[in-house]
Amino acid sequence: MRCGGAYAQHRGTRGAGRAYGAAEGRVRMDGRTVDVVDFDDFEAAGWRRQADAYDRHLAAVTARVAGPLLDAAGVVPGRRLLDLGTGPGQVAAAGAARGAEVVGVDAAPEMVALASLRHPGIRFQRADARRLPLPDASMDAVVGNFVILHVGQPEEVVAEAARVLAPGGVLALSTWDAPERCRLVGILIDALREIDLAAPPELPDGPPFFRFADVGEFSRLLRGAGFTEVRVGTVAFRHRVRTAAVLWQALIEGTVRSRALVLGQPAATRSAIRAAFERLAGAYATPDGLDVPVSVTIAAGVRP
Ligand SMILES: C[S@@+](CC[C@H](N)C(=O)[O-])C[C@H]1O[C@@H](n2cnc3c(N)ncnc32)[C@H](O)[C@@H]1O
Repeated sequence: MRCGGAYAQHRGTRGAGRAYGAAEGRVRMDGRTVDVVDFDDFEAAGWRRQADAYDRHLAAVTARVAGPLLDAAGVVPGRRLLDLGTGPGQVAAAGAARGAEVVGVDAAPEMVALASLRHPGIRFQRADARRLPLPDASMDAVVGNFVILHVGQPEEVVAEAARVLAPGGVLALSTWDAPERCRLVGILIDALREIDLAAPPELPDGPPFFRFADVGEFSRLLRGAGFTEVRVGTVAFRHRVRTAAVLWQALIEGTVRSRALVLGQPAATRSAIRAAFERLAGAYATPDGLDVPVSVTIAAGVRP
Protein backbone atom coordinates (compact mmCIF):
# COMPACT_ATOMS: atom_id res chain seq x y z
CA MET A 1 0.00 0.00 0.00
CA ARG A 2 1.38 3.42 -0.89
CA CYS A 3 -1.10 5.70 0.80
CA GLY A 4 1.09 8.25 2.51
CA GLY A 5 1.74 6.01 5.49
CA ALA A 6 -1.26 7.25 7.49
CA TYR A 7 -2.38 3.66 8.06
CA ALA A 8 1.14 2.37 8.66
CA GLN A 9 1.87 1.14 12.14
CA HIS A 10 3.13 4.09 14.14
CA ARG A 11 6.82 3.62 14.77
CA GLY A 12 6.85 5.29 18.19
CA THR A 13 8.75 8.43 19.03
CA ARG A 14 10.40 9.89 22.08
CA GLY A 15 9.17 13.36 23.01
CA ALA A 16 6.23 14.86 21.22
CA GLY A 17 8.04 18.19 20.70
CA ARG A 18 10.79 16.76 18.52
CA ALA A 19 8.74 14.58 16.21
CA TYR A 20 5.59 16.66 16.13
CA GLY A 21 6.75 20.28 16.24
CA ALA A 22 4.63 22.53 14.02
CA ALA A 23 5.86 25.12 11.54
CA GLU A 24 3.19 27.11 9.69
CA GLY A 25 0.78 24.20 9.56
CA ARG A 26 3.37 21.71 8.30
CA VAL A 27 4.44 19.08 10.79
CA ARG A 28 7.05 16.30 10.56
CA MET A 29 5.51 12.94 11.51
CA ASP A 30 7.01 9.52 11.08
CA GLY A 31 9.45 10.78 8.44
CA ARG A 32 6.72 12.61 6.51
CA THR A 33 5.69 16.26 6.37
CA VAL A 34 1.97 16.63 6.96
CA ASP A 35 -0.01 19.76 6.22
CA VAL A 36 -2.22 19.72 9.30
CA VAL A 37 -4.38 22.60 8.04
CA ASP A 38 -5.30 20.63 4.91
CA PHE A 39 -5.87 17.54 6.97
CA ASP A 40 -8.13 19.29 9.51
CA ASP A 41 -10.16 20.90 6.70
CA PHE A 42 -10.56 17.51 5.02
CA GLU A 43 -11.70 15.86 8.28
CA ALA A 44 -14.09 18.70 9.10
CA ALA A 45 -15.77 18.49 5.68
CA GLY A 46 -15.94 14.70 5.99
CA TRP A 47 -17.70 14.66 9.36
CA ARG A 48 -20.20 17.25 8.15
CA ARG A 49 -21.05 15.08 5.14
CA GLN A 50 -20.94 11.73 6.95
CA ALA A 51 -22.82 12.69 10.15
CA ASP A 52 -26.00 10.72 9.38
CA ALA A 53 -24.13 7.71 8.01
CA TYR A 54 -21.82 7.66 11.05
CA ASP A 55 -24.84 7.76 13.31
CA ARG A 56 -26.49 4.87 11.44
CA HIS A 57 -23.44 2.65 11.11
CA LEU A 58 -20.90 3.22 13.86
CA ALA A 59 -22.37 5.22 16.75
CA ALA A 60 -23.78 2.08 18.40
CA VAL A 61 -20.28 0.57 18.52
CA THR A 62 -18.54 3.66 19.87
CA ALA A 63 -21.35 4.09 22.44
CA ARG A 64 -20.15 0.87 24.07
CA VAL A 65 -17.02 2.73 25.18
CA ALA A 66 -19.01 5.45 26.99
CA GLY A 67 -19.07 3.61 30.33
CA PRO A 68 -15.33 2.82 30.54
CA LEU A 69 -14.45 6.32 29.31
CA LEU A 70 -16.64 8.02 31.92
CA ASP A 71 -15.22 5.69 34.59
CA ALA A 72 -11.69 6.68 33.54
CA ALA A 73 -12.70 10.33 33.86
CA GLY A 74 -14.23 9.73 37.31
CA VAL A 75 -17.66 11.02 36.25
CA VAL A 76 -20.11 10.92 39.17
CA PRO A 77 -23.27 12.95 39.93
CA GLY A 78 -22.75 16.71 39.96
CA ARG A 79 -19.47 16.73 37.99
CA ARG A 80 -19.16 19.31 35.24
CA LEU A 81 -18.45 17.19 32.15
CA LEU A 82 -17.36 18.30 28.69
CA ASP A 83 -17.68 15.79 25.82
CA LEU A 84 -15.35 16.78 22.96
CA GLY A 85 -16.29 15.72 19.43
CA THR A 86 -19.58 14.49 20.83
CA GLY A 87 -20.90 13.27 17.45
CA PRO A 88 -24.49 12.06 17.95
CA GLY A 89 -24.04 12.63 21.69
CA GLN A 90 -23.92 9.08 23.08
CA VAL A 91 -21.18 9.75 25.66
CA ALA A 92 -22.75 13.05 26.70
CA ALA A 93 -26.06 11.20 27.24
CA ALA A 94 -24.36 8.50 29.29
CA GLY A 95 -22.72 11.23 31.40
CA ALA A 96 -26.07 12.95 31.94
CA ALA A 97 -27.58 9.60 32.96
CA ARG A 98 -24.90 9.46 35.69
CA GLY A 99 -26.04 12.81 37.00
CA ALA A 100 -23.22 14.93 35.55
CA GLU A 101 -23.81 18.50 34.27
CA VAL A 102 -22.95 17.97 30.64
CA VAL A 103 -21.89 20.09 27.68
CA GLY A 104 -21.24 18.33 24.36
CA VAL A 105 -19.30 20.11 21.62
CA ASP A 106 -18.55 19.19 18.04
CA ALA A 107 -16.98 21.01 15.12
CA ALA A 108 -19.65 19.69 12.73
CA PRO A 109 -23.00 21.53 12.98
CA GLU A 110 -24.68 18.41 11.54
CA MET A 111 -23.43 16.38 14.51
CA VAL A 112 -24.60 19.06 16.95
CA ALA A 113 -28.05 18.99 15.32
CA LEU A 114 -28.21 15.20 15.56
CA ALA A 115 -27.08 15.15 19.19
CA SER A 116 -29.60 17.87 20.11
CA LEU A 117 -32.40 15.93 18.41
CA ARG A 118 -31.50 12.66 20.13
CA HIS A 119 -30.88 14.16 23.59
CA PRO A 120 -32.99 17.32 23.94
CA GLY A 121 -32.22 17.76 27.67
CA ILE A 122 -28.49 18.20 27.10
CA ARG A 123 -26.60 21.34 26.05
CA PHE A 124 -24.76 20.82 22.76
CA GLN A 125 -22.91 23.50 20.88
CA ARG A 126 -20.69 23.88 17.89
CA ALA A 127 -17.07 24.33 18.93
CA ASP A 128 -13.59 23.35 17.86
CA ALA A 129 -11.83 21.25 20.50
CA ARG A 130 -8.67 23.26 19.83
CA ARG A 131 -10.30 26.58 20.76
CA LEU A 132 -13.10 26.03 23.24
CA PRO A 133 -15.50 28.89 24.02
CA LEU A 134 -15.32 28.00 27.71
CA PRO A 135 -13.63 29.74 30.65
CA ASP A 136 -10.46 28.44 32.27
CA ALA A 137 -10.95 25.82 35.00
CA SER A 138 -14.70 25.50 34.31
CA MET A 139 -14.91 21.67 34.01
CA ASP A 140 -14.28 18.72 36.33
CA ALA A 141 -13.96 16.14 33.56
CA VAL A 142 -13.26 16.28 29.83
CA VAL A 143 -13.74 13.24 27.59
CA GLY A 144 -13.26 12.62 23.88
CA ASN A 145 -14.45 9.31 22.42
CA PHE A 146 -12.62 8.53 19.13
CA VAL A 147 -11.74 12.16 18.47
CA ILE A 148 -8.01 12.46 19.10
CA LEU A 149 -7.17 10.34 16.03
CA HIS A 150 -9.06 12.78 13.81
CA VAL A 151 -7.15 15.98 14.56
CA GLY A 152 -3.97 17.14 12.86
CA GLN A 153 -2.33 18.28 16.08
CA PRO A 154 -3.66 16.37 19.07
CA GLU A 155 -1.28 18.31 21.34
CA GLU A 156 -3.47 21.41 20.80
CA VAL A 157 -6.62 19.57 21.89
CA VAL A 158 -4.99 18.19 25.03
CA ALA A 159 -3.57 21.60 25.98
CA GLU A 160 -7.01 23.17 25.54
CA ALA A 161 -8.59 20.44 27.68
CA ALA A 162 -6.01 21.23 30.38
CA ARG A 163 -6.98 24.90 30.21
CA VAL A 164 -10.71 24.31 30.76
CA LEU A 165 -10.21 21.70 33.49
CA ALA A 166 -10.18 22.78 37.13
CA PRO A 167 -7.23 21.57 39.23
CA GLY A 168 -7.86 17.91 40.06
CA GLY A 169 -10.06 17.51 36.96
CA VAL A 170 -9.57 14.50 34.69
CA LEU A 171 -9.13 14.15 30.94
CA ALA A 172 -9.98 10.77 29.35
CA LEU A 173 -9.58 10.01 25.64
CA SER A 174 -10.20 6.87 23.61
CA THR A 175 -8.97 5.58 20.27
CA TRP A 176 -8.95 2.33 18.30
CA ASP A 177 -6.31 -0.15 19.44
CA ALA A 178 -3.81 -1.59 16.95
CA PRO A 179 -5.37 -3.32 13.91
CA GLU A 180 -4.17 -6.79 14.93
CA ARG A 181 -6.21 -6.49 18.15
CA CYS A 182 -9.03 -4.21 16.98
CA ARG A 183 -10.27 -6.35 14.13
CA LEU A 184 -13.29 -4.09 13.58
CA VAL A 185 -10.95 -1.69 11.80
CA GLY A 186 -8.10 -4.16 11.28
CA ILE A 187 -9.91 -6.26 8.66
CA LEU A 188 -10.09 -3.30 6.30
CA ILE A 189 -6.51 -2.24 7.09
CA ASP A 190 -5.27 -5.74 6.25
CA ALA A 191 -7.27 -5.77 3.02
CA LEU A 192 -5.74 -2.41 2.04
CA ARG A 193 -2.26 -3.68 2.83
CA GLU A 194 -2.74 -6.60 0.44
CA ILE A 195 -3.41 -4.33 -2.52
CA ASP A 196 -0.93 -2.11 -4.32
CA LEU A 197 -2.71 1.21 -4.13
CA ALA A 198 -1.90 4.90 -3.93
CA ALA A 199 -3.77 7.57 -1.99
CA PRO A 200 -6.14 9.52 -4.25
CA PRO A 201 -5.30 13.23 -4.66
CA GLU A 202 -8.34 14.32 -2.64
CA LEU A 203 -7.01 12.49 0.47
CA PRO A 204 -4.41 14.65 2.22
CA ASP A 205 -1.63 12.98 4.13
CA GLY A 206 -2.50 12.78 7.81
CA PRO A 207 -1.16 11.76 11.19
CA PRO A 208 -0.69 8.03 11.76
CA PHE A 209 -4.17 6.60 12.32
CA PHE A 210 -2.93 4.25 15.06
CA ARG A 211 -0.48 6.66 16.73
CA PHE A 212 -2.23 6.39 20.10
CA ALA A 213 -2.60 2.62 20.03
CA ASP A 214 1.00 2.93 21.24
CA VAL A 215 0.72 3.14 25.03
CA GLY A 216 3.91 5.18 25.42
CA GLU A 217 2.83 7.66 22.77
CA PHE A 218 -0.64 8.12 24.30
CA SER A 219 0.77 8.63 27.75
CA ARG A 220 3.39 11.12 26.44
CA LEU A 221 0.57 13.12 24.81
CA LEU A 222 -1.11 13.69 28.16
CA ARG A 223 2.11 14.16 30.14
CA GLY A 224 3.31 16.69 27.56
CA ALA A 225 0.37 18.93 28.50
CA GLY A 226 1.17 18.63 32.19
CA PHE A 227 -1.27 15.88 33.15
CA THR A 228 -0.23 13.67 36.06
CA GLU A 229 -1.26 10.19 37.24
CA VAL A 230 -1.52 9.22 33.57
CA ARG A 231 -2.95 5.74 32.95
CA VAL A 232 -3.44 3.97 29.63
CA GLY A 233 -5.52 0.81 29.35
CA THR A 234 -7.60 -1.15 26.87
CA VAL A 235 -11.22 -2.23 26.74
CA ALA A 236 -12.12 -5.25 24.63
CA PHE A 237 -15.50 -6.53 23.48
CA ARG A 238 -17.04 -8.32 20.49
CA HIS A 239 -19.20 -6.65 17.89
CA ARG A 240 -21.79 -8.79 16.13
CA VAL A 241 -22.70 -7.83 12.60
CA ARG A 242 -24.94 -9.73 10.18
CA THR A 243 -22.62 -10.01 7.17
CA ALA A 244 -19.28 -8.82 5.82
CA ALA A 245 -21.25 -6.65 3.39
CA VAL A 246 -22.92 -4.82 6.30
CA LEU A 247 -19.53 -4.26 7.98
CA TRP A 248 -18.05 -3.01 4.70
CA GLN A 249 -20.90 -0.54 4.28
CA ALA A 250 -20.42 0.69 7.88
CA LEU A 251 -16.69 1.22 7.42
CA ILE A 252 -17.00 2.91 4.05
CA GLU A 253 -20.07 5.06 4.68
CA GLY A 254 -19.46 5.87 8.35
CA THR A 255 -15.84 7.01 8.15
CA VAL A 256 -13.86 9.86 6.60
CA ARG A 257 -10.30 8.75 5.77
CA SER A 258 -11.08 5.10 4.95
CA ARG A 259 -13.99 6.15 2.80
CA ALA A 260 -11.89 8.61 0.78
CA LEU A 261 -9.07 6.10 0.39
CA VAL A 262 -11.32 3.29 -0.87
CA LEU A 263 -13.80 5.30 -2.95
CA GLY A 264 -10.97 7.25 -4.59
CA GLN A 265 -9.58 4.07 -6.19
CA PRO A 266 -10.28 2.87 -9.73
CA ALA A 267 -13.15 0.36 -9.91
CA ALA A 268 -10.86 -2.67 -10.31
CA THR A 269 -8.84 -1.73 -7.21
CA ARG A 270 -12.03 -1.16 -5.22
CA SER A 271 -13.24 -4.63 -6.19
CA ALA A 272 -9.91 -6.16 -5.17
CA ILE A 273 -10.06 -4.44 -1.77
CA ARG A 274 -13.64 -5.59 -1.29
CA ALA A 275 -12.78 -9.20 -2.21
CA ALA A 276 -9.84 -9.22 0.23
CA PHE A 277 -12.08 -7.69 2.90
CA GLU A 278 -14.79 -10.36 2.47
CA ARG A 279 -12.18 -13.15 2.61
CA LEU A 280 -10.49 -11.73 5.75
CA ALA A 281 -13.84 -11.06 7.43
CA GLY A 282 -14.65 -14.76 6.94
CA ALA A 283 -12.28 -15.55 9.82
CA TYR A 284 -14.95 -14.15 12.19
CA ALA A 285 -17.96 -15.95 10.69
CA THR A 286 -20.34 -17.78 13.05
CA PRO A 287 -23.69 -19.41 12.25
CA ASP A 288 -25.32 -16.10 13.34
CA GLY A 289 -23.14 -13.71 11.39
CA LEU A 290 -19.75 -12.14 12.13
CA ASP A 291 -18.41 -11.91 15.66
CA VAL A 292 -15.65 -9.30 15.42
CA PRO A 293 -13.12 -8.44 18.18
CA VAL A 294 -12.97 -4.77 19.14
CA SER A 295 -10.20 -3.32 21.26
CA VAL A 296 -10.07 0.30 22.36
CA THR A 297 -7.27 2.20 24.09
CA ILE A 298 -8.17 4.73 26.78
CA ALA A 299 -5.77 7.24 28.31
CA ALA A 300 -6.61 9.35 31.35
CA GLY A 301 -4.72 11.89 33.42
CA VAL A 302 -5.28 14.45 36.15
CA ARG A 303 -4.80 18.18 35.71
CA PRO A 304 -2.61 19.31 38.63
C1 LIG B 1 -15.43 9.34 15.13
S1 LIG B 1 -16.50 10.64 15.54
C2 LIG B 1 -16.80 10.29 17.27
C3 LIG B 1 -18.14 10.78 17.73
C4 LIG B 1 -18.53 10.42 19.16
N1 LIG B 1 -17.58 10.96 20.13
C5 LIG B 1 -18.67 8.94 19.34
O1 LIG B 1 -18.25 8.44 20.40
O2 LIG B 1 -19.23 8.26 18.48
C6 LIG B 1 -15.41 12.03 15.61
C7 LIG B 1 -16.13 13.32 15.95
O3 LIG B 1 -15.17 14.31 16.29
C8 LIG B 1 -15.56 15.54 15.71
N2 LIG B 1 -14.36 16.37 15.57
C9 LIG B 1 -13.28 16.14 14.80
N3 LIG B 1 -12.38 17.13 14.95
C10 LIG B 1 -12.91 18.00 15.86
C11 LIG B 1 -12.46 19.22 16.46
N4 LIG B 1 -11.28 19.76 16.15
N5 LIG B 1 -13.28 19.82 17.34
C12 LIG B 1 -14.48 19.31 17.66
N6 LIG B 1 -14.96 18.16 17.13
C13 LIG B 1 -14.18 17.51 16.25
C14 LIG B 1 -16.20 15.13 14.39
O4 LIG B 1 -17.02 16.14 13.87
C15 LIG B 1 -16.94 13.87 14.79
O5 LIG B 1 -18.24 14.17 15.25
